[in-house]
Amino acid sequence: MKKTALFLSLAALGLGSAFAADPAKINWAKVPVTQVPLFYPGQSTYEWLRSDEHKNAAKEVKRGDACTACHDEESAEKDIGNKIVKGGRLEPTPIPGKSGYKDLKVQAAYDDSNAYLRFQWKTDNPYPGTEHQYLRFDGKEWKVWGFPKLDKPVQQGKEPGIYEDRLSVMLDDGKVPGFNKQGCWLTCHDGQRDNPKQFTKEEVAANPLLTSIKKSDVRKYLPETRTDPSNWKTGKTVEEIAKLKADGHFLDLIQWRAHRSHAVGMADDGYVLEFRLSDSGRDMFSGNSDNATHAPKFMWDEKKVGYKSITALQLHKGDHFLIREQNAVPFDPNAGWKEGDMIPDYLISREDAMGSAADNKAIASWKEGMWTVVIIRPLGLTNDDDKALKPGAVYNVGFAVHDDNITTRGHQVSFEKTLGLGVTKGTKVDINAVKLP
Ligand code: HEC
Repeated sequence: MKKTALFLSLAALGLGSAFAADPAKINWAKVPVTQVPLFYPGQSTYEWLRSDEHKNAAKEVKRGDACTACHDEESAEKDIGNKIVKGGRLEPTPIPGKSGYKDLKVQAAYDDSNAYLRFQWKTDNPYPGTEHQYLRFDGKEWKVWGFPKLDKPVQQGKEPGIYEDRLSVMLDDGKVPGFNKQGCWLTCHDGQRDNPKQFTKEEVAANPLLTSIKKSDVRKYLPETRTDPSNWKTGKTVEEIAKLKADGHFLDLIQWRAHRSHAVGMADDGYVLEFRLSDSGRDMFSGNSDNATHAPKFMWDEKKVGYKSITALQLHKGDHFLIREQNAVPFDPNAGWKEGDMIPDYLISREDAMGSAADNKAIASWKEGMWTVVIIRPLGLTNDDDKALKPGAVYNVGFAVHDDNITTRGHQVSFEKTLGLGVTKGTKVDINAVKLP
């Protein structure tokens, strides 16, 4: 079987500016490394942290104290993650063999055009998580095949766990109250997917805020977007939320996705406000399932890659990206499909990505059990859904890795950290981006 080759020239990445460094040529050996411990948080939501279950800490967390004011032991992340991941009050559906802890190596640099954020971590599996869900022909119809490991069909052993690896960065420029102390936990609430008291369809359909923004589930939100931060149903008005956005009260959320963005040398660009939203413009990925028939819209171009579809036997053997402008053709319903034929559930396209959603590029590779990902983000973005990165400034950041075929809360996360861009020696930050020569 032929492999789909990834050719990522500087021009293809859109980084051809005379002032930009060639990210492939940055000498990372000269850039300081910060070790960021990541741990499995289970269902430690905003609400749990403010409850009596969080022993003797509810009052302090409500008051706004930093997590690390108490969780300051050297092994804090390791201890919490390794305990929660095994199951218990904060993890009702443990994943067999999942690691509770990960070391994330972080390095940062910048030049006159871009910031370069480099990440390295070891994967639980002996393969890179570049596969995502498929559409599979069952002899009659095409159905989604493969699910994230916290989903019922995988928990019950009816479906394999298939989901892309991810590296996420949540970033605040100091305008989101409390993010500098409690980081990502501001956004993680009861009612969300895979969290306690998960929403029902009826509840979402009856909710004025979510229906007005055309959403059918509950995802990350900032406390300020609700009249009662602990109750997702109490959303403020769309006008009030627009005012929060205009005042910069939102978080940037950059996600590098091993299937849906990596295939075209990008990371996606989103933000968290009343929901986890995509920036304006268009993402580099879109659903490949036809709304009416559920059959694929595109299949592989046999002339280019040697096959129209794969089967489960090819899983984890090479990359299986379906890229519109490189290796895809419109789906042919009469191509003699057999039971077990599989086509990706998502179509990827560098050409389709546009606007603010297309700001972040990325170069990544997986070698001997380790991902190395460099995210490239232009400095000084002026879109109303971006946080502008500027030399000399300091940001509050949280990091997360989704590893081993999982989504939602099944990640390993960091406590809040600080990222500076070339800040002077007197300013203390966890990660200081160095100016490239
Ligand atoms: C006032 C001190 C204090 C603060 C502030 C605090 N915690 Fe805790 N936390 C504790 C204590 C004490 C425990 C209980 C440890 C135990 O039961 O072994 C705990 C337990 C936890 C646990 C469960 C660990 C387990 O073993 O089940 C998680 C997760 C957690 N905290 C996360 C956080 C996060 C996230 C924040 C910030 C939003 C935070 N904590 C803020 C004191 C604190």
